[in-house]
This record gives sequence, C-alpha cells and structure tokens, in this order.
Amino acid sequence: MEVLIINGSPRKGRMHTGRIVSHFAEGMKEAGANVETIYSIALSIGDCKGCFNCWTKTPGKCIQDDDMTDVLSKMASADILVLATPVYVDGMTGSLKTLIDRFLPHLKGRFVIRDDHCRHPVREHVKQGKVVLVSVSGFTELDNFDPLINHVRAICKNMNREFAGALVRSVAWIMDGAAEQGVQLDSIYEAVRQAGRELVSTGSMREETLETIRRDFVPRDTVVQLTQGFYDEE
Ligand SMILES: Cc1cc2nc3c(=O)[nH]c(=O)nc-3n(C[C@H](O)[C@H](O)[C@H](O)COP(=O)(O)O)c2cc1C
Repeated sequence: MEVLIINGSPRKGRMHTGRIVSHFAEGMKEAGANVETIYSIALSIGDCKGCFNCWTKTPGKCIQDDDMTDVLSKMASADILVLATPVYVDGMTGSLKTLIDRFLPHLKGRFVIRDDHCRHPVREHVKQGKVVLVSVSGFTELDNFDPLINHVRAICKNMNREFAGALVRSVAWIMDGAAEQGVQLDSIYEAVRQAGRELVSTGSMREETLETIRRDFVPRDTVVQLTQGFYDEE
C-alpha cells in the first residue's frame, strides 16, 4: 500500500504537525505501508495560472514545468493521501493550498454528475483511494478544525477519493511543557500510531482512537494563563 504524506507546515517536520504525522507514519509502516513524506514549503510550485491548458491544449499536463510534475505522479499512485497542516487562519497553510490547486491535470474538463453533483471525471491513471487530514491548532476548542475538515471533505469529493477521517490535536504547542510537568501524554502518541496501523490494516480508524488523540489534557483557563506575558505586549 502506497501512502503519500504532504506536510504543509512551514516548519516542516520539526514542530507539532511534523511530530504528530511522524507517529502516524510509523504506525502505517508497522502495518506494512510504504510511506513517503513531502513538504510543500520545500518545493518549487507556482500558483495555478487558471489557463485550463491542462484540460484543452495539453490534456493532463500543466504548462508550468516545476516540482508539481513529480508531485502529481506521486499523488496518482497513492492509495492513501495524508494532508497534514497546522490550522492557519481557520484553514490549511498557503503552500498546501497552492499544491492542491495544481492537482487539476488529474481531472478532465467536461462535467459529469456524480452523487447528484456536477464534477469532473478523474483521469484513468489516477488512483482514487483515501484521504486523511492530520492537523494541529494553537487554540483549545475542537471547532477550530471545522472549516478545515469541511474543506478536506469537499476536496475528497472533487478528487473522487474517500475521506477516511481527521486526526486533530488542539493546543499542540503545550504538549512538551505539559509532559515536563508530569502530564501523561504517551497515550496520545500511541493512539496516533494506532490510528496509522488501523487505517492500513482495516481501511478505517476507530472513533475511540481518534477521540484519544483529541482529548483535553489541560484546562482552557490554564492555557490562557500560560500565554499571558509570553508575547510582546502591554
Ligand atoms: C499564520 C498563523 C495562523 C494561525 N491561525 C490559527 C487559527 O486560526 N486557529 C488556531 O487554533 N491556531 C492558529 N495558529 C496556530 C498554529 O496552528 C499552531 O501554532 C501550530 O502548532 C503550528 O504548527 P507547527 O508547529 O507544525 O508549525 C496559527 C499560526 C500561524 C503562524
């Protein structure tokens, strides 16, 4: 089973998105998947020019010759596509969105009706497997992920891929400090690996596993207090 992780964090693998998704990758590898990770910020990918040449003059091919050519071929052969991103202003990061916009060569231009909705047919060489969202946020409330989850669900319909679920971890930035204070967080990382194993071996992730990953471990007032005086203000 081929897994492509596209990590959209500008801090690549070093910080919280990277840490969570690396445990997820470990779990998927333990279950036998081939996992490749790419970082959208590290790639040279221009904005979509909106010219539609990939549907007209050069079907299936973008007029821009940049790193997206290689990414498109990796996406086409991925059984599972993992979109990993911190919440940035209630959505995904810019570099990840730029990359997603450039997937249009995988589609054909004409419209078809799929599930009672106008869509584009997906080209024959493109696998139509699953998509998983992995995300971390700065704020505490789980509703911070809602716009992003809805967006990724919609992207799945556009790509004709199955949305296989979201691994979300709020206030990820507090995890190291909390662990130093004795808060037991190993069960969260273990659940992330477990989710990876479940996805590859059974095709889905158990709700109980996802709930362990997103559970509250620090009261919101404590989080608010911790930010006081940390930043450069009055
Ligand atoms: C430009 C920017 C916008 C952000 N917007 C949000 C937001 O809307 N909601 C939220 O909960 N956190 C927000 N955050 C916090 C990040 O999600 C958080 O710091 C995350 O841990 C960063 O991921 P990383 O550690 O992989 O870099 C934002 C951070 C930045 C830099």
